[in-house]
Amino acid sequence: MRMYDLIESKKRGNALSKEEIAYMVQGFVKGEIPDYQMSAMLMAIYFQGMEDREITDLTLEMAHSGDMADLSPIEGIKVDKHSTGGVGDKTTLVVGPIVASLGVKVAKMSGRGLGHTGGTVDKLESIPGFRTAIPMEEFFHIVNETGIAVIGQSGNMVPADKKLYALRDVTATVDSIPLIASSIMSKKLAAGSDAIVLDVKTGSGAFMKDLDSSIRLAEKMVSIGTMAGRKCCALITNMDIPLGHEIGNSLEMQEAIATLRGEGPEDLAGISIELAANMLYMAGKGGMEECRRMARQSILDGSALRTLAAMVKSQGGDEAYIFEPKRFRRAEYTLEVKAEKDGYITHMDTEAIGIASVLLGAGRSRKEDEIDCSAGITLRKKYGDPVKTGDVLAELHAGKEALLTGARDKFLSACLLGQTPPKPEPLVYARVTAEGVEKMNTGIILGRKC
Ligand code: URA
Repeated sequence: MRMYDLIESKKRGNALSKEEIAYMVQGFVKGEIPDYQMSAMLMAIYFQGMEDREITDLTLEMAHSGDMADLSPIEGIKVDKHSTGGVGDKTTLVVGPIVASLGVKVAKMSGRGLGHTGGTVDKLESIPGFRTAIPMEEFFHIVNETGIAVIGQSGNMVPADKKLYALRDVTATVDSIPLIASSIMSKKLAAGSDAIVLDVKTGSGAFMKDLDSSIRLAEKMVSIGTMAGRKCCALITNMDIPLGHEIGNSLEMQEAIATLRGEGPEDLAGISIELAANMLYMAGKGGMEECRRMARQSILDGSALRTLAAMVKSQGGDEAYIFEPKRFRRAEYTLEVKAEKDGYITHMDTEAIGIASVLLGAGRSRKEDEIDCSAGITLRKKYGDPVKTGDVLAELHAGKEALLTGARDKFLSACLLGQTPPKPEPLVYARVTAEGVEKMNTGIILGRKC
């Protein structure tokens, strides 16, 4: 077999066989297939797409390219959750403790920030002492004791995705349904949980910008998960507007804590309850309404917050930060971004707002960059809000004064002001299961302020 022939075949729109996919993935991981040939293949897949059978074969081959986690030392049903990536998306930090406090195990392997999107591991590391690299035996022990642990993905899991993702990032081939579906699902299958709830983001801050593509992506991922013998469903949620008010690692940690205290913003709390309810439902805890009620109750009675604190303590972090979030270090420099005219916020280019937070030091422009955990953006106004000239739209936080101006310009260009209120947008659009697509109405509508 020759990689040249496989590229030629995909370029002409043919489907790759299971053997060809195995040859390609294994050869690439071993370094026998060079980056330039794999780049050409990625671009061919980007334009020609893949059949469902090819996506499943690619996902399984990638999942088996390294270690597969065996979670059998953890008692009970293990439920995982994965977001396709967004701005201000701190839901894992809220949802994980809710679900774990209700007796469902969450053995979570999370990622770091990627491009304009943040990552759970970076957020947790803003708590002094918190360890995200721990041996598997200790990980199992913590999950058995507290119900939840969150670690970074072990060095040897899904090496095919690590190499492929790095290449996609620099060859403009990230936003491809077969490539995103296989990237996410290979990691989820290798991570070993019994059930998976996917949060597929849609809108300007997501990799999939329109609803139809997001639904197609969700359908593919759910079908791969189901075929691999896992229970799997997906929620399609709004990422046309940043989630919550805080963007940046320790800022998001504080907002997640506020949400677990019952004091969080409506959109973050709403999505978190919905995701948690789906995880509880998959674990057989009851009907959907009952699961929503249990999730809300775990916030009201403080059990979800206590579960987060227990996890933080078990992973070496200072749990005092959970009960007294004022302890989080504040950034040295702040700048208020003010409205330059009257109007309503009619659009927030959420990817650009994510990039503004990266410019402040909250994310990485290159893999080896250090992040500043106290850097980021606090949104004072959001989509649909009326504003007057001089009103504060957002507060920027950075460790270096010089970073503020570029981020302010980026932020201002991302917020459009119009003369009439914009159309309200749903928070959750749909739920996708193996049975089909169901429209959702959580009762929470974004941008209906006036
Ligand atoms: N997140 C992933 O893990 N992979 C992708 O391809 C996109 C988002």
